[in-house]
Amino acid sequence: MADIDIIDQYRSSFVSYLEEKIKFAEPKHLYEPIQYILGLGGKRMRPILTLMTAELFGEDPKNALDTALAVEMFHNFSLVHDDIMDDAPLRRGKTTVHEKWDVNTGILSGDAMLILSYQFLESYPAETYKELTKLFSKTALEVCEGQQYDVDFETRDDVTIPEYLKMIEYKTSVLVAAAMKMGALVANAPKKDAEAIYEFGRNLGIAFQLQDDYLDAFGDPKTFGKQVGGDIMVNKKTYLYLKSLEKASKDNQDGLLHLYSIKPKDSADKVEAVKTIFKESGAVEETKKAIQDFTQKAFDALAEIELPEKSKALLEQFAKNLMERTV
Ligand code: IPE
Ligand code: IPE
Ligand code: MG
Ligand code: MG
Ligand code: MG
Repeated sequence: MADIDIIDQYRSSFVSYLEEKIKFAEPKHLYEPIQYILGLGGKRMRPILTLMTAELFGEDPKNALDTALAVEMFHNFSLVHDDIMDDAPLRRGKTTVHEKWDVNTGILSGDAMLILSYQFLESYPAETYKELTKLFSKTALEVCEGQQYDVDFETRDDVTIPEYLKMIEYKTSVLVAAAMKMGALVANAPKKDAEAIYEFGRNLGIAFQLQDDYLDAFGDPKTFGKQVGGDIMVNKKTYLYLKSLEKASKDNQDGLLHLYSIKPKDSADKVEAVKTIFKESGAVEETKKAIQDFTQKAFDALAEIELPEKSKALLEQFAKNLMERTV
């Protein structure tokens, strides 16, 4: 079977399980938004990685479904709150929860999703449950820290690249890493392999967020599913921005600093001007290079795991596909 088919199989077994588990009743205003956001799909990359990792370490992936569900539920919780914080109108090509309902609905439905994500872990034996929740809680707190840095950086003009990399490691990559390590924990994988797979996920997650930043500026509005240019509108300090400041001509540096000090009501001209500077400065190439570098680091971590190349090849393929995505 081709790798793509295998990945689709993981996705569809996950989605069937999800649909079975998210049948809620009253109150409608709490549960409808949860079904709405989870029903909008998305790539389901984190739960697929959980299932793939469990199977890589010899476990029946069915036994990792509750972990996969916990991770995807947490991810969707973080998106609902993130869209409030980023004032985002669109998610997966549809209206965001706080715009379709209201901000209070987004807050409370998000809270409920966070709690549900922990409940899905209750099906594991005590020792596994303890290990899973310990990692999950550490990760969840780091995501909050990353999200706070992300917001703090909007109004700072002295953010450095190491600070940016730490911010995306926390807001995004630790969850990708934990999704995989939790799959390894369910499978009772050797400690050093669980660490290596965490490293794989951490580096993959950094590459993934760099790519997300790139698509936020240069993605195709028809396929991306989110408002293109949203990061520029709210002055997010992305890799594209920071590299532009480093590499652009003096005029473009000054221009960029000015553009990132204003928030015009009609932002179309600002977005275009910023994108031109991103391109002319060489920041686009730098970002693509950084994506490749972190993907390579992920592959190096994978190489340390002593398992047949064939079983690791699927993860490599998955990572490569991810970096060529338009969504
Ligand atoms: C969006 O994650 C949030 C980021 C960390 C960039 P995804 O791009 O995985 O979103 P979905 O779940 O596929 O919609
Ligand atoms: C997402 O960062 C991180 C979390 C949701 C925790 P972004 O703000 O870049 O994600 P998108 O672009 O809205 O999906
Ligand atoms: Mg956002
Ligand atoms: Mg955000
Ligand atoms: Mg983004």
